[in-house]
Amino acid sequence: MARHSNLTHNELVHMRASCKLASRTLEMISEYIEPGITTEKINQIVDTFLRDHGAYPSPLNYRGFPKSVCTSINDVVCHGIPGKQTLKNGDIVNVDVTCTLPAENGYFGDTSVTFYVGEPSKEAIHVTEVARQALEIGIAAVKPGVRLGDVGYAIQSFVEANGCSVVREFTGHGIGRQFHTEPTVLHYGRPGTGARIKRGMTFTIEPMVNLGSWETRILDDDWTAVTQDGSLSAQFEHTLL
Ligand code: MF3
Ligand code: CO
Ligand code: CO
Repeated sequence: MARHSNLTHNELVHMRASCKLASRTLEMISEYIEPGITTEKINQIVDTFLRDHGAYPSPLNYRGFPKSVCTSINDVVCHGIPGKQTLKNGDIVNVDVTCTLPAENGYFGDTSVTFYVGEPSKEAIHVTEVARQALEIGIAAVKPGVRLGDVGYAIQSFVEANGCSVVREFTGHGIGRQFHTEPTVLHYGRPGTGARIKRGMTFTIEPMVNLGSWETRILDDDWTAVTQDGSLSAQFEHTLL
């Protein structure tokens, strides 16, 4: 029988269960993404859905993060904290769901999508579709023996060829029974550099793509990362085996 993974079959089944639930949570929340909803309401719906399915919302209390999901609107690159803010027509919002199923040995599933709120502008469509395709290109580049720098290069060259930039300060990451572990998965890089991908590794790819320049800054809440130039930013994330 082919060796699929360094994980045992049971471990693989457990990790898939968390990943599937995180993904189903995004499908569920997509129905609620419309002008007028607050990010706090999104947080509450996600929190309830995960707990109803026996899961724990991983962001909650992670290094002091105060909510159960990240909601990142427009120029927010990542780690937006749900609150009183209301989604407006034309916004883009990334919802980043991470969960563990304690009954499934606590493996993490981590995935995110950027949604359109109402009617998007041309700019919003551009940065969002480039980010969506950047993730697909990254995933397509992954196979055993390929170097992480090859994956980063594939993502970066595509994004820059489309007039956008790749955020440097936040990266993909190894994931398993820990939320964030080795390796660091850069979304930029040079071919032939970086660690080799091995069969059985589990890690995320989650390129953050800015319409303007790549630099970010952190707001006074110590979490919210925004583009320095105020330009739009979009992100999609997938957990891979
Ligand atoms: N889900 C994010 C990631 O993709 C991490 C969020 S950490 C939090 O790695 F504390 F902000 F929730
Ligand atoms: Co992640
Ligand atoms: Co995430």
